[in-house]
Amino acid sequence: MKIEIVADYEALSKRAAAIVLDRVTQRPETVLALPTGNTPIGMYKQLVQAYWEGRTDFGQVWAFALDEYAEVPAEDRHSFSSFLRHHFIDPVGLAARFDHLRGEASDLEAECKRYELSIAARGGLDLAVLGLGVNGHIAFNEPPTPFDSRTHVVDLAGSTREANASYFPDGFPIPNRGVTMGIGTILEAQEILVIASGSSKAPIVARIVTAEPTVDIPASALKGHPHVMLLLDEEAAAG
Ligand code: PGA
Repeated sequence: MKIEIVADYEALSKRAAAIVLDRVTQRPETVLALPTGNTPIGMYKQLVQAYWEGRTDFGQVWAFALDEYAEVPAEDRHSFSSFLRHHFIDPVGLAARFDHLRGEASDLEAECKRYELSIAARGGLDLAVLGLGVNGHIAFNEPPTPFDSRTHVVDLAGSTREANASYFPDGFPIPNRGVTMGIGTILEAQEILVIASGSSKAPIVARIVTAEPTVDIPASALKGHPHVMLLLDEEAAAG
């Protein structure tokens, strides 16, 4: 696992965006997996700015959301697909080339199978950009998730629901379940970029770096991948 440490959140956002832009320049039909959360917002801002300045063209890119809340309709503003549309997909004109899990699907198992087939139909993921949960989760793969898991329905960990509570200031109930690409699905990406910022991530980053791969730390599965980078700011790297 390659580890790169930059000074702060702004540097992390710029570096992450530069990596995405480089891959899209090299391969315009790049297939991306995209994270939700606080960490990638700065990266999305940089990518949108690059688009508006004409430094890139996402016209042939395909984008897949990593995960979604169960039972939250796509058009609801709390959904992860709304988040991604707002911060990245719509500003760069990617709506027709964006797929996401439908949390409102009546048969979530069937929806998970559809998603796997949709990713495969695009030739698989080229670059998966991942955030990191304080419990080591990647996408919504909470501990302990098998490393060969495919897209599946999950019960969300208490720490995840707490960390995401700030997105629900209006009394909308914080969902108990989610749907997520599996660890096995993510590991099939050609390249993986994990971004982590701030002191709250320092303990889990230290555990990932020092521990043997274990299902108790989902992100430790990435140590078995040949092309993965952990991009950290100094606070996240402090441990
Ligand atoms: P965060 O979430 O970027 O808001 O810290 C990361 C995650 O839980 O995957």
